[in-house]
Amino acid sequence: MTRRSVTASAPGKIILSGEHFVVHGSYSVAAAINKRVLATVQEIDGSRSRIVSNDLVSHLGSDDGTFLGVKSIARSIISNVPRKNRESFEISIRSEIPSGAGLGSSAAVNVACAAALTKFVGLSSKEEEIQKLAFDGERILHGNPSGLDVQASISGGLILFKKGTLIEKIHLERPFKLLVVFSGKKRRTSKLVAKVAKIRERYPNHFQRLVDSSSASSFEIALAAKTRNMEKIGSIFEIAQANLSWIGVSTPHLESLIEFLYQKQEVLGAKLTGAGGGGSVIAVIKEGSEEPILRHASGSYPFGFVTEIPEEGFRWEK
Ligand code: PMV
Repeated sequence: MTRRSVTASAPGKIILSGEHFVVHGSYSVAAAINKRVLATVQEIDGSRSRIVSNDLVSHLGSDDGTFLGVKSIARSIISNVPRKNRESFEISIRSEIPSGAGLGSSAAVNVACAAALTKFVGLSSKEEEIQKLAFDGERILHGNPSGLDVQASISGGLILFKKGTLIEKIHLERPFKLLVVFSGKKRRTSKLVAKVAKIRERYPNHFQRLVDSSSASSFEIALAAKTRNMEKIGSIFEIAQANLSWIGVSTPHLESLIEFLYQKQEVLGAKLTGAGGGGSVIAVIKEGSEEPILRHASGSYPFGFVTEIPEEGFRWEK
């Protein structure tokens, strides 16, 4: 017997400008990456719905500390389905994005699961509903998220964003490539966001200047991306990295990764992406040299890839 099932997928993201400062009102620029999360919801026998990812299985009703975001999304969706129509289901999650790497894996999981489950239960699966559900899931995980990860995953492409609002999806005549290298160190976004809030309390005026400078950089990156000025993007990455280091979210390990990349003159600029404290670095590379630089990095770091900026955000899969 074939079981009824729905599959949706959503991309991870990288932040080109404005991480952390976006939480405090800065404009920011993020892009979808060519790595996705797939979520399949399928009907099952029995009375207990479950979530499965790799070897991990947890029942929806279990408070075992796993799948916190997805469980809260699923419970909220089910609460809108009349009891007599409720069926048991399995949500199975397959991800190409390492978790804790600053590449938006939790947002992509939340978007893909919210999309697949709303459609499975027959509720509206319009973008706004998926966004709201996925954002609520992010709140469970990160406390005070800006919504940038969820927005980038839903919209795809390159976006200019301010807390809670998509300002513009930036149209690129010809997509460009960026190098992404995971440092191998996982970290928790919520801890870093809390650390930055403390820095802001201590240095309110200087912090505000950094928020303003981050907004200016975001507009410059948006323009440089439209005009394909890769040198400009590289130099803005350098400034952003210095500011992120000042607020305490860079680490010696990330800085040595950046210095390692700068050994190659084709690297035009590099910065941490996402919450920092570990996680990943992105770099803009002279066109045509992306693969050799990736090979250079792959010898010393566990996971790296070259991404074009995919236009597509979340989508339904067959
Ligand atoms: O590291 P990630 O993928 O969780 O990105 C976090 C981005 C922050 O700006 C630090 C937080 C936020 O909600 O925007």
